[in-house]
Amino acid sequence: GRNSAWGGRFAAGPDALMLRINASIDFDRRLFREDIAGSVAHCRMLVAQRILTEADGKAILNGLDKILREIEDGRLEIDPAKEDIHMHVEARLRELIGAPAGRLHTARSRNDQVATDLRLWLRAAIDRQDEGLAALQAALVDQAERHAETVMPGFTHLQSAQPVTFGHHMLAYAEMIGRDRGRFADARRRLNECPLGAAALAGTSFPVDREMTARELGFARPMANSLDAVSDRDFVLEYLAAGAILAMHLSRLAEEVVIWSSAQFRFLNPGDAFTTGSSIMPQKRNPDAAELLRAKAGRVIGALNALLVVMKGLPLAYGKDMQEDKEPLFDAADTLETCIAVAAGIVGDLMPNADRLREAAGSGFATATDLADWLVRELGLPFREAHHVTGSLVRAAEERGCGLEDLPLEVFTGTDARIHDGVYQVLGIDNSVRSRTSLGGTAPDQVRRQAAQWRSRLEQD
Ligand code: ARG
Repeated sequence: GRNSAWGGRFAAGPDALMLRINASIDFDRRLFREDIAGSVAHCRMLVAQRILTEADGKAILNGLDKILREIEDGRLEIDPAKEDIHMHVEARLRELIGAPAGRLHTARSRNDQVATDLRLWLRAAIDRQDEGLAALQAALVDQAERHAETVMPGFTHLQSAQPVTFGHHMLAYAEMIGRDRGRFADARRRLNECPLGAAALAGTSFPVDREMTARELGFARPMANSLDAVSDRDFVLEYLAAGAILAMHLSRLAEEVVIWSSAQFRFLNPGDAFTTGSSIMPQKRNPDAAELLRAKAGRVIGALNALLVVMKGLPLAYGKDMQEDKEPLFDAADTLETCIAVAAGIVGDLMPNADRLREAAGSGFATATDLADWLVRELGLPFREAHHVTGSLVRAAEERGCGLEDLPLEVFTGTDARIHDGVYQVLGIDNSVRSRTSLGGTAPDQVRRQAAQWRSRLEQD
């Protein structure tokens, strides 16, 4: 049959394929709370402005309240012919209260309605997500405090570079997640404007009070331009862009957990909660959760790409193309929610293998830079010369198969007669780490200070 919402100018009903490509109810049904909240605010405003009678308004609000409870109880009857959640709610309202239902859509369009719903939904999703991110940071800070002195190799080019502490490494991720939270907060601030009252695209001739609906729904203000209000999806893109960066951060953390868990590294003692065994190789313990965390970035980055491509070149104002914003957004938000919680779980479970980390930190002449710095500081050598002297001492140690700290003093003095036994104080990895006291450096005192700062920021959240 013809569509009850817009079938007036149509002679026949749509093709079954039309329903299949057109209907969004399967995925936009999760906007029901926001859709009803938007309708409630709109209805109250219509009554306040005397566009609707008190009696009609009351009937509509009662009906909407009933529908909210019905859907919460899982009693929404899905009919693809009703296309989307907006039509489903309206159709049910007509069943419940009859004629006044048709008055709710006065001075409104699904175009401003859906834009409002999605902003409300995303605002709540960002708030939920922020709690998860704070918990992830807390897990990182816990580990940082626990392992402020646990030395490990620091890498550049994935080659041992200089010793750092495990806690310092954890705090690097706390910083990244802190920036991620800032990006989501920025996106939230910009998205918090209300499209309602833009109607289809041009605004409305009814005397609506856009300030009132904006206020009722907790928006900072109405959107300034009606064309922009119905055609902007920047707010989704900003969320996805921030989400893609977050997912990228989580994938780097995950990759480190994967590498560190390998038999070749053994930086981490295996935990049980986030690993699996192999059905064929009894010795195996696989870091599946971390691998999936690494992989999920692909999905989130894909969602950003998908929507950028949908929006690119779309003329103003609304186009049905924009219905394609929801699946990538929902998938990315669901994916991130899981990933954030899993990352917090993985971090909380990390058990660094301190002996192995120490051993690895000492290999590869990790304190060569400390030696060069000492030559500059104690003997006044230009750094380039100190670099050269250190290089020949590394070669000497390599030939003897020992560490720099194991070379006899004659070898040092043989290279440069001014070197004295004070040099040994900078050669151990603990000395090296303790000496990195510059702000933000890896010295345990610095790490503890950074951790304490995060701790108090997290408590103030
Ligand atoms: N389901 C639609 C969407 O998600 C709602 C808006 C439809 N508007 C319209 N003029 N057909 O974008």
